[in-house]
Amino acid sequence: MIIASNLKTNLTREKTISYLMDVENFLDKNNSDQEIYVFPAQSSLNPHHGKVVQGAQNAYATQNGAFTGEIGLEQLEEFDVKTILIGHSERRHILGESQEKLVEKFNFYKSHGFKIVYCVGEPLEVREQGEDVMMKYLELQYEGIDTSYDKLIIAYEPVWAIGTGLTPTLEDISKIHLKLKEKSSAPLLYGGSVKVETARDILACDGVDGVLVGSGALKVENFCQMIKFAEELNNN
Ligand code: 13P
Repeated sequence: MIIASNLKTNLTREKTISYLMDVENFLDKNNSDQEIYVFPAQSSLNPHHGKVVQGAQNAYATQNGAFTGEIGLEQLEEFDVKTILIGHSERRHILGESQEKLVEKFNFYKSHGFKIVYCVGEPLEVREQGEDVMMKYLELQYEGIDTSYDKLIIAYEPVWAIGTGLTPTLEDISKIHLKLKEKSSAPLLYGGSVKVETARDILACDGVDGVLVGSGALKVENFCQMIKFAEELNNN
């Protein structure tokens, strides 16, 4: 299974290094062979070699250039980063990234062989309009995306569930995941208020290949516990 931690704008570089070390130690001690990703804040990136894959939360679709406040391929290569999160709802809705820009970013990093964790998800007002409207909305987020890219992971993160403590029911998670799986055979993660208390049940849902966790993974022991759940479920 895939267990991923999006640290967002949290943890200094020093704390991130210690977070990564704790996860590595946990994986070694438990002989775990789950697929683990950590996405640190940009200024906390550091070369990391081990079982945990370090990814970037964002980067501009460029090698380098005049894009104030952004980083590009050159800065990621310095830290051996070959994995990137694209389309996160905070980038779509707070930072205003359009589908067109996301497609550009996707194609650029795909052309450089990056593993891409591509996020989709609907806001509450869309969900409230029923399943058809919601699926159509999600479909638009697949527009222009190469869903058969072999280094693609998709994350379904309902916007209304992110950072709110709310989650869809387990039945709804399964239902939506199975529908989304018709669009791409890429592994499909669930994200949005996954907590240590809910992770096991979510991981056990039909159609769920892993989780992408924000606040619930900020404490490394909670993140490690989620990895343990994945390990147990895999062995069942
Ligand atoms: P929370 O787990 O804090 O809801 O965030 C989810 C998320 O956005 C992961 O990318």
